[in-house]
Amino acid sequence: MNKQLILKNRPVGMPTEDTWSLVESAIPEPKEGEVLVQTHYISLDPAMRGWMNDSKSYIPPVALDDVMRAGTIGVVLKSNNHPNFNEGDVLTGWGGVQQYFTTNGEGHFKVDTSLAPMTKYIGALGMPGMTAYFGIQEVGKIKEGEVVLVSGAAGAVGSVVGQIAKIKGCTVVGVAGGPDKCKYVVETLGFDACVDYKNENLYTALKQNCPKGIDVYFDNVGGEILDAALSRIRRHARIVICGAISQYNETSVQGPKNYLSLLVNRATMQGMVVFDYADRYKEAAMQMGMWMMEGKLKTEEDVYEGIENFYETFTRLFSGDKRGKLVLKLIEE
Ligand SMILES: NC(=O)c1ccc[n+]([C@@H]2O[C@H](COP(=O)([O-])OP(=O)(O)OC[C@H]3O[C@@H](n4cnc5c(N)ncnc54)[C@H](OP(=O)(O)O)[C@@H]3O)[C@@H](O)[C@H]2O)c1
Repeated sequence: MNKQLILKNRPVGMPTEDTWSLVESAIPEPKEGEVLVQTHYISLDPAMRGWMNDSKSYIPPVALDDVMRAGTIGVVLKSNNHPNFNEGDVLTGWGGVQQYFTTNGEGHFKVDTSLAPMTKYIGALGMPGMTAYFGIQEVGKIKEGEVVLVSGAAGAVGSVVGQIAKIKGCTVVGVAGGPDKCKYVVETLGFDACVDYKNENLYTALKQNCPKGIDVYFDNVGGEILDAALSRIRRHARIVICGAISQYNETSVQGPKNYLSLLVNRATMQGMVVFDYADRYKEAAMQMGMWMMEGKLKTEEDVYEGIENFYETFTRLFSGDKRGKLVLKLIEE
């Protein structure tokens, strides 16, 4: 049998367990030109919260009664004359929260698991890594010697952003929740400093850690931290609006109060969506793979198990009770 997680209602605020329902059905048969894939891992992404809202976004919302959208990696069990994919191939794409699915292959890519384990292809070599790579370089336009501030610094995107900025010769300060995460960000990931937003006064801590101001702020969280960062930007600073996790469950979103700092400092604030760089993912994955092999880029996945534990695992994105890339293992061994 196939277990699938179905979106049952649109949450207001933080989703609850009954936002979804777990259903069982027969394992589907691939039609002519399709493959049957068994999902090994799914990617847990903050964006999933936005995909549940019935509002205009960069992709349509997940429809009610549809399988919950998720990035996946899995193995082709059966190919019904698919032109490119054969039994045993490992595919990453948008398989959704389900143990098995069929696809004509659109939006799915074959990966080589002799080069990196499966979980890396939904982490640093997948969507979060691509976001970091293009966000900090193409939108943040970092230059050697600049001061970079990154929120969500211990997370999937932020941890990679900060390390790329270090590789490129910047001074990098992270923002993360709690002393353990901050220790990890500095001692393991090699950031120059990290502000614990849960226990420190943001304004004082940023003044201490970025005495000359901030050239690039990579924003993963929005809210108070964005305001504090705005208060310390330098002339011609760039603010990359990658995400705003502090606002995703809010019914009334808090916009930046300190936005006039953009005017004073002739600064820019620009949104980014990783999908715009899809034709360059290969280039990014090759560079990131190289940095990983050279020991310059450290990446970590926090793996939980079982489709039944989807909700409990999903909530970790918002509680912060996880480190690095959050992954759920679906295959039962
Ligand atoms: N624009 C794009 O194309 C794109 C693509 C991928 C991701 N994103 C965005 O990038 C951001 C990071 O995604 P990710 O996958 O790397 O997630 P992540 O950082 O691995 O996980 C989310 C982290 O957010 C932090 N957090 C949760 N609630 C918070 C709050 N109220 N205030 C401050 N921090 C909070 C927690 O870390 P602490 O324990 O440190 O609080 C948590 O671990 C998200 O906003 C996501 O939507 C955007």
